[in-house]
Amino acid sequence: MTGTDSSSSAGTAPEAGSDGAVSGTAGSNGVANLSPEASRGHLTSRITSADAIPIGDADPGADHGYHGELAAILIGEEELRAKIGVLARAVAADHDLDTPPLLICVLKGAVMFVTDFARALPIPSELEFMAVTSYGSATSSSGVVRILKDLDRDITGRRVVIVEDIIDSGLTLSWLLKNLATRGPASVDVVALLRKPEAIKVDVDVRYVGFDIPTDFVVGYGLDYGERYRDLPFVGLLGEHMYR
Ligand code: IMP
Ligand code: MG
Repeated sequence: MTGTDSSSSAGTAPEAGSDGAVSGTAGSNGVANLSPEASRGHLTSRITSADAIPIGDADPGADHGYHGELAAILIGEEELRAKIGVLARAVAADHDLDTPPLLICVLKGAVMFVTDFARALPIPSELEFMAVTSYGSATSSSGVVRILKDLDRDITGRRVVIVEDIIDSGLTLSWLLKNLATRGPASVDVVALLRKPEAIKVDVDVRYVGFDIPTDFVVGYGLDYGERYRDLPFVGLLGEHMYR
Protein backbone atom coordinates (compact mmCIF):
# COMPACT_ATOMS: atom_id res chain seq x y z
CA MET A 1 0.00 0.00 0.00
CA THR A 2 2.75 2.41 -0.78
CA GLY A 3 3.62 4.39 -3.82
CA THR A 4 2.00 7.11 -5.77
CA ASP A 5 -1.44 8.33 -5.07
CA SER A 6 -1.46 10.35 -8.17
CA SER A 7 -4.20 10.99 -10.54
CA SER A 8 -7.38 9.19 -10.73
CA SER A 9 -9.38 9.34 -7.56
CA ALA A 10 -10.06 12.39 -5.45
CA GLY A 11 -13.21 13.99 -6.66
CA THR A 12 -12.84 15.70 -9.96
CA ALA A 13 -16.14 17.50 -10.22
CA PRO A 14 -17.90 16.00 -13.21
CA GLU A 15 -20.27 17.95 -15.37
CA ALA A 16 -23.49 18.03 -13.45
CA GLY A 17 -26.90 17.21 -14.74
CA SER A 18 -26.09 15.60 -18.05
CA ASP A 19 -28.44 13.17 -19.60
CA GLY A 20 -28.29 10.28 -17.15
CA ALA A 21 -29.27 8.09 -20.02
CA VAL A 22 -31.48 5.23 -19.11
CA SER A 23 -30.33 1.98 -20.57
CA GLY A 24 -31.74 -1.31 -21.57
CA THR A 25 -34.68 -1.39 -23.84
CA ALA A 26 -35.16 -5.12 -23.77
CA GLY A 27 -38.66 -5.39 -22.51
CA SER A 28 -38.96 -9.14 -22.41
CA ASN A 29 -36.79 -11.84 -21.03
CA GLY A 30 -36.04 -13.27 -24.46
CA VAL A 31 -32.55 -13.34 -25.85
CA ALA A 32 -33.61 -13.33 -29.46
CA ASN A 33 -35.30 -9.95 -29.57
CA LEU A 34 -32.22 -8.13 -28.42
CA SER A 35 -29.87 -7.58 -31.31
CA PRO A 36 -26.33 -7.15 -29.96
CA GLU A 37 -25.49 -4.25 -32.24
CA ALA A 38 -28.70 -2.46 -31.43
CA SER A 39 -28.41 -3.05 -27.73
CA ARG A 40 -24.78 -2.41 -26.96
CA GLY A 41 -24.90 1.33 -27.38
CA HIS A 42 -27.69 1.50 -24.85
CA LEU A 43 -26.04 -0.66 -22.24
CA THR A 44 -24.19 2.04 -20.42
CA SER A 45 -25.89 4.52 -18.14
CA ARG A 46 -24.14 7.74 -17.30
CA ILE A 47 -24.17 8.54 -13.59
CA THR A 48 -23.14 12.02 -12.47
CA SER A 49 -22.52 13.52 -9.06
CA ALA A 50 -25.99 15.01 -9.32
CA ASP A 51 -27.39 11.46 -9.16
CA ALA A 52 -25.83 10.78 -5.78
CA ILE A 53 -28.43 10.62 -3.05
CA PRO A 54 -26.90 12.24 0.04
CA ILE A 55 -27.26 10.27 3.20
CA GLY A 56 -29.57 11.97 5.62
CA ASP A 57 -30.91 10.73 8.91
CA ALA A 58 -31.56 7.21 7.67
CA ASP A 59 -28.01 6.03 7.03
CA PRO A 60 -28.21 2.87 4.87
CA GLY A 61 -24.65 1.99 5.87
CA ALA A 62 -25.79 1.72 9.46
CA ASP A 63 -27.81 -1.40 8.61
CA HIS A 64 -24.45 -3.04 7.97
CA GLY A 65 -22.60 -1.51 10.89
CA TYR A 66 -21.03 1.39 9.03
CA HIS A 67 -22.32 4.31 11.04
CA GLY A 68 -21.74 7.74 9.54
CA GLU A 69 -19.07 6.51 7.12
CA LEU A 70 -20.81 6.98 3.78
CA ALA A 71 -21.61 10.29 2.14
CA ALA A 72 -24.14 9.17 -0.47
CA ILE A 73 -25.68 6.32 -2.41
CA LEU A 74 -24.57 6.47 -6.02
CA ILE A 75 -26.30 3.36 -7.40
CA GLY A 76 -29.01 1.63 -5.42
CA GLU A 77 -29.84 -2.07 -5.22
CA GLU A 78 -32.75 -1.95 -7.63
CA GLU A 79 -30.77 -0.04 -10.22
CA LEU A 80 -27.92 -2.57 -9.94
CA ARG A 81 -30.30 -5.48 -10.32
CA ALA A 82 -31.99 -4.02 -13.39
CA LYS A 83 -28.69 -3.19 -15.05
CA ILE A 84 -27.25 -6.64 -14.42
CA GLY A 85 -30.27 -8.14 -16.16
CA VAL A 86 -29.65 -5.93 -19.18
CA LEU A 87 -25.94 -6.80 -19.28
CA ALA A 88 -26.68 -10.50 -18.93
CA ARG A 89 -29.13 -10.48 -21.83
CA ALA A 90 -26.67 -8.59 -24.01
CA VAL A 91 -23.87 -11.08 -23.28
CA ALA A 92 -26.21 -14.02 -23.85
CA ALA A 93 -27.26 -12.61 -27.21
CA ASP A 94 -23.63 -12.72 -28.34
CA HIS A 95 -23.11 -16.39 -27.40
CA ASP A 96 -24.41 -19.73 -28.61
CA LEU A 97 -25.69 -22.46 -26.37
CA ASP A 98 -23.03 -24.84 -27.66
CA THR A 99 -20.17 -22.48 -26.76
CA PRO A 100 -21.10 -21.31 -23.27
CA PRO A 101 -19.09 -18.39 -21.93
CA LEU A 102 -16.39 -19.05 -19.39
CA LEU A 103 -16.80 -16.25 -16.87
CA ILE A 104 -13.55 -15.16 -15.27
CA CYS A 105 -14.23 -13.27 -12.09
CA VAL A 106 -11.43 -10.99 -11.02
CA LEU A 107 -11.25 -11.27 -7.24
CA LYS A 108 -12.19 -9.83 -4.97
CA GLY A 109 -14.06 -6.77 -6.17
CA ALA A 110 -16.15 -8.53 -8.82
CA VAL A 111 -17.46 -11.31 -6.61
CA MET A 112 -20.88 -9.78 -5.88
CA PHE A 113 -21.29 -8.80 -9.50
CA VAL A 114 -20.37 -12.19 -10.95
CA THR A 115 -22.76 -14.12 -8.73
CA ASP A 116 -25.68 -11.88 -9.65
CA PHE A 117 -24.58 -11.74 -13.28
CA ALA A 118 -24.30 -15.52 -13.67
CA ARG A 119 -27.73 -15.98 -12.13
CA ALA A 120 -29.21 -13.39 -14.49
CA LEU A 121 -27.66 -14.98 -17.61
CA PRO A 122 -30.34 -16.75 -19.64
CA ILE A 123 -27.76 -19.25 -20.98
CA PRO A 124 -25.41 -21.66 -19.20
CA SER A 125 -22.03 -20.36 -18.14
CA GLU A 126 -18.99 -21.70 -16.36
CA LEU A 127 -17.13 -19.89 -13.63
CA GLU A 128 -13.44 -19.37 -12.94
CA PHE A 129 -11.67 -17.09 -10.51
CA MET A 130 -8.47 -15.19 -10.78
CA ALA A 131 -6.86 -12.88 -8.26
CA VAL A 132 -4.41 -10.21 -9.24
CA THR A 133 -2.89 -7.36 -7.36
CA SER A 134 -1.85 -4.07 -8.78
CA TYR A 135 0.80 -2.19 -6.89
CA GLY A 136 -0.27 1.28 -5.90
CA SER A 137 -1.95 3.15 -3.13
CA ALA A 138 -5.25 2.26 -1.54
CA THR A 139 -7.12 4.34 -4.08
CA SER A 140 -5.19 4.07 -7.34
CA SER A 141 -3.37 1.39 -9.27
CA SER A 142 0.01 1.44 -10.97
CA GLY A 143 -0.43 -1.13 -13.72
CA VAL A 144 2.29 -3.34 -12.29
CA VAL A 145 0.30 -6.50 -11.83
CA ARG A 146 1.05 -9.76 -10.06
CA ILE A 147 -1.06 -12.93 -10.15
CA LEU A 148 -2.10 -14.04 -6.67
CA LYS A 149 -4.34 -16.85 -7.85
CA ASP A 150 -4.32 -18.16 -11.39
CA LEU A 151 -7.06 -19.98 -13.30
CA ASP A 152 -7.57 -23.63 -12.42
CA ARG A 153 -7.85 -24.74 -16.03
CA ASP A 154 -6.97 -24.31 -19.62
CA ILE A 155 -8.92 -21.73 -21.60
CA THR A 156 -7.76 -22.84 -25.04
CA GLY A 157 -10.59 -22.49 -27.55
CA ARG A 158 -12.98 -21.09 -24.96
CA ARG A 159 -15.06 -17.97 -25.25
CA VAL A 160 -13.93 -16.04 -22.22
CA VAL A 161 -15.83 -13.21 -20.58
CA ILE A 162 -13.85 -11.31 -17.97
CA VAL A 163 -16.15 -10.01 -15.27
CA GLU A 164 -14.79 -6.84 -13.68
CA ASP A 165 -16.08 -4.62 -10.94
CA ILE A 166 -14.65 -1.33 -12.16
CA ILE A 167 -12.40 0.09 -14.82
CA ASP A 168 -10.49 2.99 -13.33
CA SER A 169 -7.17 3.62 -15.10
CA GLY A 170 -7.70 0.44 -17.12
CA LEU A 171 -4.14 -0.65 -16.35
CA THR A 172 -5.08 -3.83 -14.52
CA LEU A 173 -7.47 -4.93 -17.24
CA SER A 174 -5.06 -4.10 -20.03
CA TRP A 175 -2.47 -6.33 -18.44
CA LEU A 176 -5.00 -9.10 -17.89
CA LEU A 177 -6.20 -9.02 -21.50
CA LYS A 178 -2.65 -9.45 -22.75
CA ASN A 179 -2.00 -12.24 -20.30
CA LEU A 180 -5.14 -14.20 -21.24
CA ALA A 181 -4.58 -13.67 -24.95
CA THR A 182 -1.39 -15.75 -24.72
CA ARG A 183 -3.42 -18.78 -23.59
CA GLY A 184 -5.26 -19.39 -26.86
CA PRO A 185 -8.88 -18.55 -26.07
CA ALA A 186 -11.39 -18.36 -28.95
CA SER A 187 -12.41 -14.89 -27.78
CA VAL A 188 -12.00 -12.62 -24.79
CA ASP A 189 -14.62 -10.02 -23.95
CA VAL A 190 -15.04 -7.86 -20.90
CA VAL A 191 -18.13 -7.01 -18.92
CA ALA A 192 -17.57 -4.28 -16.35
CA LEU A 193 -20.21 -3.04 -13.97
CA LEU A 194 -18.61 0.38 -13.54
CA ARG A 195 -16.20 2.55 -15.48
CA LYS A 196 -14.62 5.92 -14.71
CA PRO A 197 -14.19 7.42 -18.19
CA GLU A 198 -12.23 10.43 -16.95
CA ALA A 199 -9.67 8.23 -15.19
CA ILE A 200 -8.81 5.92 -18.07
CA LYS A 201 -5.11 5.95 -18.99
CA VAL A 202 -4.94 3.10 -21.49
CA ASP A 203 -7.33 2.27 -24.25
CA VAL A 204 -9.03 -1.03 -23.42
CA ASP A 205 -11.81 -2.58 -25.39
CA VAL A 206 -14.62 -3.17 -22.92
CA ARG A 207 -17.59 -4.58 -24.74
CA TYR A 208 -20.21 -4.33 -22.01
CA VAL A 209 -20.25 -1.53 -19.42
CA GLY A 210 -23.03 -0.99 -16.90
CA PHE A 211 -22.45 2.51 -15.59
CA ASP A 212 -20.09 5.32 -16.38
CA ILE A 213 -19.46 7.10 -13.09
CA PRO A 214 -17.51 10.16 -11.85
CA THR A 215 -13.94 9.69 -10.67
CA ASP A 216 -14.93 9.81 -7.00
CA PHE A 217 -13.84 6.81 -4.96
CA VAL A 218 -16.74 4.39 -4.61
CA VAL A 219 -17.35 1.49 -2.24
CA GLY A 220 -19.87 -1.30 -1.79
CA TYR A 221 -21.18 -4.17 -3.89
CA GLY A 222 -17.74 -5.79 -3.81
CA LEU A 223 -15.66 -2.62 -3.87
CA ASP A 224 -13.55 -1.90 -0.85
CA TYR A 225 -11.51 0.70 0.88
CA GLY A 226 -8.93 -1.13 2.99
CA GLU A 227 -11.03 -4.33 2.66
CA ARG A 228 -14.09 -2.69 4.21
CA TYR A 229 -17.50 -2.01 2.62
CA ARG A 230 -17.48 -4.92 0.16
CA ASP A 231 -20.53 -6.30 1.94
CA LEU A 232 -22.77 -3.30 1.21
CA PRO A 233 -25.55 -4.15 -1.28
CA PHE A 234 -25.34 -0.80 -3.10
CA VAL A 235 -22.59 1.42 -4.54
CA GLY A 236 -21.90 4.42 -2.38
CA LEU A 237 -19.56 7.33 -1.94
CA LEU A 238 -17.32 7.16 1.07
CA GLY A 239 -17.37 10.19 3.36
CA GLU A 240 -14.26 12.25 2.76
CA HIS A 241 -13.44 12.13 6.47
CA MET A 242 -12.85 8.36 6.03
CA TYR A 243 -9.82 8.75 3.76
CA ARG A 244 -8.54 12.27 4.00
P1 IMP B 1 -7.32 0.15 -12.59
O1 IMP B 1 -6.17 -0.74 -12.89
O2 IMP B 1 -6.88 1.55 -12.26
O3 IMP B 1 -8.38 0.13 -13.68
O4 IMP B 1 -7.95 -0.34 -11.25
C1 IMP B 1 -8.76 -1.41 -11.15
C2 IMP B 1 -8.96 -1.84 -9.73
O5 IMP B 1 -8.78 -0.76 -8.79
C3 IMP B 1 -10.40 -2.27 -9.55
O6 IMP B 1 -10.57 -3.62 -9.93
C4 IMP B 1 -10.64 -2.00 -8.09
O7 IMP B 1 -10.21 -3.09 -7.34
C5 IMP B 1 -9.75 -0.80 -7.79
N1 IMP B 1 -10.54 0.45 -7.82
C6 IMP B 1 -10.49 1.41 -8.75
N2 IMP B 1 -11.35 2.42 -8.47
C7 IMP B 1 -11.96 2.07 -7.32
C8 IMP B 1 -12.98 2.71 -6.51
O8 IMP B 1 -13.51 3.79 -6.77
N3 IMP B 1 -13.35 2.02 -5.39
C9 IMP B 1 -12.81 0.81 -5.04
N4 IMP B 1 -11.87 0.19 -5.78
C10 IMP B 1 -11.44 0.81 -6.90
MG1 MG C 1 -10.80 -5.31 -8.56
